[in-house]
Amino acid sequence: MLSDAALRTVHVRAPGKINLVLHVGAVQPDGYHPLATVFQAVSLYEDVYARSARELSVSFRGSVDTSELTGEDTLVHRAAKLIAAQLTPEQRDEMELLPGAMPGIRIVVNKHVPIAGGMGGGSADAAATLVACNDIWNMGLDRATLGDLAAALGADVPFSLQGGTAMGLGRGDLLTPMLTGGEAHWVLVPSDFGLSTPAVYGELDIMRAAGTAPGRLDAPHIPAETVAAIREGSYPAYASVLDNDLQAAAFSLEPRLRERMRHLETRTGLGGIVSGSGPTIVLLAPDEESAQQAAAEVGGIAVTGGVHGARIESRDALAEEFLD
Ligand code: C5P
Repeated sequence: MLSDAALRTVHVRAPGKINLVLHVGAVQPDGYHPLATVFQAVSLYEDVYARSARELSVSFRGSVDTSELTGEDTLVHRAAKLIAAQLTPEQRDEMELLPGAMPGIRIVVNKHVPIAGGMGGGSADAAATLVACNDIWNMGLDRATLGDLAAALGADVPFSLQGGTAMGLGRGDLLTPMLTGGEAHWVLVPSDFGLSTPAVYGELDIMRAAGTAPGRLDAPHIPAETVAAIREGSYPAYASVLDNDLQAAAFSLEPRLRERMRHLETRTGLGGIVSGSGPTIVLLAPDEESAQQAAAEVGGIAVTGGVHGARIESRDALAEEFLD
């Protein structure tokens, strides 16, 4: 019999992110590139609903096309299994779990962050799943422990848990929160084509070897002026820091993206940057009204940053959230 716990539901919300700065170092023997980045969490969220169940099940829906997210090995499955492995013997006894059995949970992900758009939507799903399982299974893990699990799932997952604005070193997972003097206003413009992250990093390596993109001789770092500008947090200060080493590589792989950037900048009069490895383009606006106006003109989404990280919104999610 499922006990009263079967009635427990939780709604967790986790933000997508943009990279205001992305400095990429030389490729390492393990194939990864050391990064120095500034993340900002933006007000475009993934909503994760969870309730106790006999088995692990995950489904995706939302305002973006989720038809390709069908597997049994998504980052959400991996997050649920990883945190389940942290249950203590006492907690497992309490849940009447047989040795080696995985506790059940029904997870519904309502997606709004573009898939494969360079905005960390999958990472947000994973961060929200950790928070949801911790709650539904009464695990009582603290934020630091959730952060360690997040880092094991992917480089961008710890940031979605933390939110706000933060410097990320290493693979982007060594986070330091940054003070911001003001909210930033952005227009997100998703693309109707995808870009593969490894392909964009690979293109940057090729361009650097050919001398068509500048290399970084030192370990990548965030300059003190950038930290100071973000602390100031005005529109011109934000505009002065935007810098993405992957942008030239994304343009080189996908010339349509360069055209799109030109078009968007001309049409709106705003400056833009490619988010992460792309292909989402982000335009910086001076205030909320201009962001909304520009978003309406170009079919984008007006958001603010930096918003909160993954957190519980309510514990009384409606039953219809769980209908297939
Ligand atoms: O972190 P993620 O799993 O999205 O990375 C996908 C691929 O992107 C990696 O396998 C690697 O080829 C490339 N990458 C990289 N350096 C990073 C992050 C990603 O080369 N810091």
